[in-house]
Amino acid sequence: MIIKNAELETVCGITSVLPDHDKAEIAFAGKSNVGKSSLINGLMNRKSLARTSSQPGKTQTINFYNVNQTVYLVDLPGYGYAKVSQSEKEKWGKLIERYLHSSKQLRAVFLLIDIRHEPSQNDKMMYDWILHNGYEPIIIATKLDKLKRSQVAKHIKMVKEGLHVVPGTAVIPFSAVTKDGRDEIWEIIEGCMAQ
Ligand code: GTP
Ligand code: MG
Repeated sequence: MIIKNAELETVCGITSVLPDHDKAEIAFAGKSNVGKSSLINGLMNRKSLARTSSQPGKTQTINFYNVNQTVYLVDLPGYGYAKVSQSEKEKWGKLIERYLHSSKQLRAVFLLIDIRHEPSQNDKMMYDWILHNGYEPIIIATKLDKLKRSQVAKHIKMVKEGLHVVPGTAVIPFSAVTKDGRDEIWEIIEGCMAQ
């Protein structure tokens, strides 16, 4: 995808009305700090349009990025951030649940997992939850640059086994530093947009 323009168009909190439009939406879920906002910047060729932080819990709203007036990349708030209060966690759950349930234009949900670590209970729950909502999650293993090449295959296997993925599920390694995986992710997105 050649990026002609990209902008943050809508920000949704717990009381916001979800946007009503006719373009495909592609959502990115994953625990806090896994690299969702960095991936979205990488896809859009923007350094910091989506705000990122080394502190987990940066993105707390659902942010819709309009790319080329043809597709929305949807940045979801991260889960599993221990310092957040119980009531905040519940709000987060409701916000994402409402979105997965009611978006009419959502075509695909990507679930991001840090390639270095075994998926957590929360990751597994999120995977199952996305499936339960009728979407087959596409897995992105983030922070590929943090691993030696020789370790990659073993870690991809660990991610697949940890999530008990549906057989045949793709796991795409990605690095926001080197942009490895970017073209493959766009190809998948374009395939989903055509559906
Ligand atoms: P929340 O908004 O808190 O849910 O986090 P997020 O998933 O949006 O993560 P974000 O993109 O803000 O990245 C978190 C931290 O990880 C930042 O310090 C990023 O620079 C770093 N990071 C993200 N992707 C990569 C990557 O591919 N490689 C490396 N080395 N660092 C990364
Ligand atoms: Mg973020």
